[in-house]
Amino acid sequence: MRSANLPNESESILTSGAARPRLTFIGVGPLGGTYAACYAELGYEVLGYDVDAGRIEKFAAGEMPFYERGLDTLVRKNVDNGRLRFTADPAEVAAFGDVHFLCVGTPSRPNSDSADLSYMESAVTTLAPLLKRRCIVVGKSTVPVGTAAWVQQLIDKLSDTDVQVEVAWSPEFLQEANAVDDVLRPNRVVLAAQSDWASELLQAAHKGVFELAAMEDREVPLVITDFATAELVKVASNAFLSTKISFINAMADLCDVAGGDVTDLARAMGYDARIGHRFLRAGIGFGGGCLPKDLRALAARGRELGVGESLRFLSEIEDINLSRRTKVVRLAAELTGRENGPNGPELSGVNITVLGATFKPDTDDIRDSPALDIARRMRSEGATVTIYDPMGLDNARARYPELRYAHNLSEAVEGAELLCLLTEWEEFRHLDPAALGELVAQPRILDGRNALDPQLWKNAGWTYRGMGR
Ligand code: UGA
Repeated sequence: MRSANLPNESESILTSGAARPRLTFIGVGPLGGTYAACYAELGYEVLGYDVDAGRIEKFAAGEMPFYERGLDTLVRKNVDNGRLRFTADPAEVAAFGDVHFLCVGTPSRPNSDSADLSYMESAVTTLAPLLKRRCIVVGKSTVPVGTAAWVQQLIDKLSDTDVQVEVAWSPEFLQEANAVDDVLRPNRVVLAAQSDWASELLQAAHKGVFELAAMEDREVPLVITDFATAELVKVASNAFLSTKISFINAMADLCDVAGGDVTDLARAMGYDARIGHRFLRAGIGFGGGCLPKDLRALAARGRELGVGESLRFLSEIEDINLSRRTKVVRLAAELTGRENGPNGPELSGVNITVLGATFKPDTDDIRDSPALDIARRMRSEGATVTIYDPMGLDNARARYPELRYAHNLSEAVEGAELLCLLTEWEEFRHLDPAALGELVAQPRILDGRNALDPQLWKNAGWTYRGMGR
């Protein structure tokens, strides 16, 4: 993350002093919380709101209810200088804001692929009747196409007829662990509004991002479009990223049988600027709170709108992704000399250490973590699985108390017959195979993220297995 030009004193990152709209962020989870702090840093007066009183209390005290790199400093600084405040009172939100950003979660509905819009609905139905002056309500959450129009209908029904409240849309593209930089320095801004007045206000609410870019001699592309496109940009982008990952994972399977190396393949492919290197890392597949559920929700929305056939490939993308997890369990059986019979792999009594619990490094987020799913699958095949992660242990323990967790790396690996590196934390990339060889029962490693140097491990006497190399 770049931290250039972030002043330490109470000053904003920008000094223009021009009049700015007052912003509220409704839902201060990883999305809204990061936006609120970053926009305060950009000089806006910001009010964060959440139905979760614990979250509000923590933020208001300058503490973090979740981990995001670099966010704590921004929260503390802007709470101290008074530009960033938090409240659990929706009436205060309504009275304060010129621009209200909807940042609530849109998880999958229980037993369904579709997005659950109940948090969105409850945020809008709470806010709308309280709005007493002209303002805009801007969607930032990831939603099915058609949601913005539905939010406008809800607001029209619930707000005072003499108060003009317009809906606008501006999707976010932040990546956990890089979220602060992604908000302050986005690679594009997408805006959709229905009137010139709303469009101007929406642009004023994002002006700080463009001013910062100008100050740093960068350009931020601006796309002004309609509601449907603005909603689709986000889900289409996430589906495309998922497709890249599943594509290279399918190639990894091909490399396995043909004797190729998928890391070299991806490197060589990526030099074609039309393809690019990013999101071509083969391994155990994608997880997290976004890509998997957005992929399913897009396919579901496509079916609802009658274009399910055109989007059928999305289910293949998901199938490839999930098959990575079963593949790792099969490989674990193969590496430990166990059966991979017709009833699946058999791992009873095998001591396996899983390195990594979070869905990716530098976060404590374990939502839809491939690492934990694989750990659970190996356990259900009879293995004794011990998990270690630098940051995700508390969340993992709370979610899956039935799994075994180690306090530190050496405790985790002691007596292991197989190590599975499933989240590529920096700490794991630099493991010393010779020192580790002294602690394990058998020097075997399954590198689920292709994060290690195979030769180094083999030279130290280890049986090394990567994914497609
Ligand atoms: C993702 C998108 O990258 C963001 O642009 C988007 O804004 C966000 O979802 C969202 O919808 O809010 P995030 O969930 O933070 O961001 O995680 P990513 O960095 O995209 O990683 C997702 C998963 O893909 C991880 O499990 C990661 O290990 C895996 N991955 C990523 C691979 O397996 N291979 C790769 O080459 C890249």
